[in-house]
Amino acid sequence: ECPVSYNARNPDYSISQGACFSPCTWDGSNCWLPDFPSYGYVVDGPSTNISASIRIPLRKFGPSLYGLDVTSIVVEISILTENSVRIKFYDPANQRYEVPISINNAPSGKQLSTSEFDVIYPEQVGSVFSLQIIRKSTGTVIFDTSVAGITFEDQLLSLAIRLPSRNVYGLGESYHPTFRRELDDSTWPLWARDEPPNPFAKTSLYGVHPYYSVIEADGNSHGVLLFNSNAQEYLLQSTAPAVVFRTIGGVLDFYVMTGPTPEDVTRQYTSLVGRSFLPPYWSLGFQLSRYGYNNLQNMKDAIARTKSCNIPLDVFYGDIDTMDQQADFTIDPVNFVGLPEYVDEQRALGMRYVPIIDPAIPGNRPGYPTYERGLRAGAYITTETGDILFGNVWPPEPVAFPDFLRPGTLDWWITEITEFYQTIKFDGLWIDMNEPANFNTNIPGSEYTLSCPTNRWDDPPYVPKAGRLGPTDRLSDKTICLANTQGENGTYRHYDVHSLYGYTETIPTSIACQSATGKRGLVFTRSSFVGSGILGGHWTGDNYAYWDHLQYSVIGLLDFNIFGLPYVGADICAYFGDSEERLCERWQELGAFYPFSRNHNTLGTTDQDPCTWPLTVGESTRKAVTIRYTLLPYFYTSFYRANQGIDGTVIRSLAWEFTSDQETWNIDRQFLWRDALLVSPALDIDSVVVSAYFPAGDWFDYYTGEKYTSIGTYILLGAPTDFIPVHVRGGYILPTQEPASNTVLSRQNTFGLIVALDGARTAIGDLFWDDGESIDTVSSGTYHYGTFNFAQDTLTQTVVNNYPAALEGLVLDKIEILGNNGQVPTSVSGDISVDALITYDSTYDKVIITGAAIPIAQAFTIT
Ligand code: NOJ
Repeated sequence: ECPVSYNARNPDYSISQGACFSPCTWDGSNCWLPDFPSYGYVVDGPSTNISASIRIPLRKFGPSLYGLDVTSIVVEISILTENSVRIKFYDPANQRYEVPISINNAPSGKQLSTSEFDVIYPEQVGSVFSLQIIRKSTGTVIFDTSVAGITFEDQLLSLAIRLPSRNVYGLGESYHPTFRRELDDSTWPLWARDEPPNPFAKTSLYGVHPYYSVIEADGNSHGVLLFNSNAQEYLLQSTAPAVVFRTIGGVLDFYVMTGPTPEDVTRQYTSLVGRSFLPPYWSLGFQLSRYGYNNLQNMKDAIARTKSCNIPLDVFYGDIDTMDQQADFTIDPVNFVGLPEYVDEQRALGMRYVPIIDPAIPGNRPGYPTYERGLRAGAYITTETGDILFGNVWPPEPVAFPDFLRPGTLDWWITEITEFYQTIKFDGLWIDMNEPANFNTNIPGSEYTLSCPTNRWDDPPYVPKAGRLGPTDRLSDKTICLANTQGENGTYRHYDVHSLYGYTETIPTSIACQSATGKRGLVFTRSSFVGSGILGGHWTGDNYAYWDHLQYSVIGLLDFNIFGLPYVGADICAYFGDSEERLCERWQELGAFYPFSRNHNTLGTTDQDPCTWPLTVGESTRKAVTIRYTLLPYFYTSFYRANQGIDGTVIRSLAWEFTSDQETWNIDRQFLWRDALLVSPALDIDSVVVSAYFPAGDWFDYYTGEKYTSIGTYILLGAPTDFIPVHVRGGYILPTQEPASNTVLSRQNTFGLIVALDGARTAIGDLFWDDGESIDTVSSGTYHYGTFNFAQDTLTQTVVNNYPAALEGLVLDKIEILGNNGQVPTSVSGDISVDALITYDSTYDKVIITGAAIPIAQAFTIT
């Protein structure tokens, strides 16, 4: 056995000379495996075609790393579509664990070649196996395994993929300082863990997304998923360059998507793993939360403060301090007595309420029936000896963990949530601590400490990085033992399904939320996995009140948008640490453009709701959030497009939209809402200017309408402390609505259109609208979808899906045309009120039509 896993420099995993024995070699500082192709797998026979796939038998040769090699494996290649292929290495003799999530992977029956790509591998028996995928149009080798031997042992599987460029994005969840990943030979864990983001350590965070996207040297793009849920790590190797995946279980199941644009790649990815859910309209409103209101009065005060500053507000939260000693589905009878009534009162005013739920259920608490009912349902994870596994989370008692892979658990969970709705009327559910988090693990002597027994699951022969961050670390740190079983009759090891815990909790929680409320609802989860975006959103966890966490929040938005979870946001003004006024002000401004826009902080910190500050935060927040509410029709339409696969991302990096412009590939301090709204926040302490990049085209200042025609340049923008630069892209039409104090009210207001013209004086746009909260409006056809077009002085709406009831009584009243080439309009005619007023602002070349009174549900043409 060889003590290193791969012959790449891996500085964080040093092996001493004494531990470096044959077949490895010591070069004076590092221990190396023999070079490829001196180990791996060889072709072991002819390939066969089975159920529209090609299977190639492979046989192990060369040294073993940790033993228990699977000597005969099969690689199965299935072309799925013109732009996607699955490559699966598995053991034909023994059924190994595979991720129990169904994704859309039906083979198309095409053999190794499509119009877009070829798959190449050696056929001669005895040849060392490696596989290449070649983009036909350019000849670029986009996926190439000829960089290292394949490892397929019982508890260590590895594949290295040579990259055609250094432009790699994705792989998470982690805090990393740039959207484009640094290929610096560092190894990162992929393992769900309750770990606050730390910019100084390459650690695992809450969710697992073994997925990357690459922009090739010529701007074409592809994506790669390793569909595996075991503890993994990946190495971002500088030489080659390469991404090396290592996992300690399951199979090597890769999906490659060939784009060719980054947006195409994201769309191909979401078509495989599932399109993102359509959030309810209200969940795009501003939201206020904190852990540690401590009593109802403080909660009421924060909400009243925010409203009294005229900041639009839609949602408020109950964290665990609203519970009776942190037990789910209870309300603190002393400090939060009257909460249900307060919720009723606020909901009648158009507000929504979202409580938190933790998976940790306190056992042995007299008068707490949830635990007992779970016990009867057989809902909890058990130890190898069949006892309930107890850990320690927030409640004072030991806690049990529901096993969401058992059908009985699902019924119990749904019933508990549905009954809780009788106690308090909620509109969405916030699921936390679902890595699952467990305090006090492996700490000898601590109360309720969980020390996992020694076995091959908790102490695998190869310990991936999440289990070796420090000398005494184990994979079970901050979670439960890996040897435990889950599923009906113990079908699964926690070892295999650990990182699916949050995913499996999201499903019944979403079902329960909808069945309890009868509405679409909102579920967002801390721990996520491949495909979680179908049902849930995500917040990026327990950030700190540091300026660099403000900046990294942009990267979090971009990452989760390419992972297919576009409903994402960071805790505005920060979770840990007392926020400070300037930071909170900038964070409120940026957060007004997060898809999920929520101010949230932790126990014991000073209040940070926007109007608690003495000076400007409240006013700056009001301005930014008012812009948000104005743009909500555009935001909502963007979510519809991602949900329908018209688009991949909602929050989009400039690299995804302007890929042919190389300058955009490393920009991560600005982002787009979809394709037409550019946000360029001030992210540095004391800075009142932003150097913003404008890809070639026409851009209009959101505030004034002033036009910049860019050939691809940085422009220094003024960003006084109360101001966030926002620009509209020429060629696009954005639907808007007059803002109000919440979305129930704003949805009754008049609409507007921002028509930002390009050089040819044309523009396009669209509007999706439904009642904002019913389940399945799209599949039932109960929605409006219209497209806008402006050309030759004529603006039209074409109604693509006609559902006038969704927009009854609502009118388009204000039309702003930006960049009119200095042409002063004289009159307006067509399907528009005779009382409409048309004015022209010569300073900014802007035409403003008011009083249009056009029923927005209908097709119209105006000139
Ligand atoms: C951890 C979550 O990340 C945080 O948002 C929450 O406030 C605390 N748990 C308490 O519930």
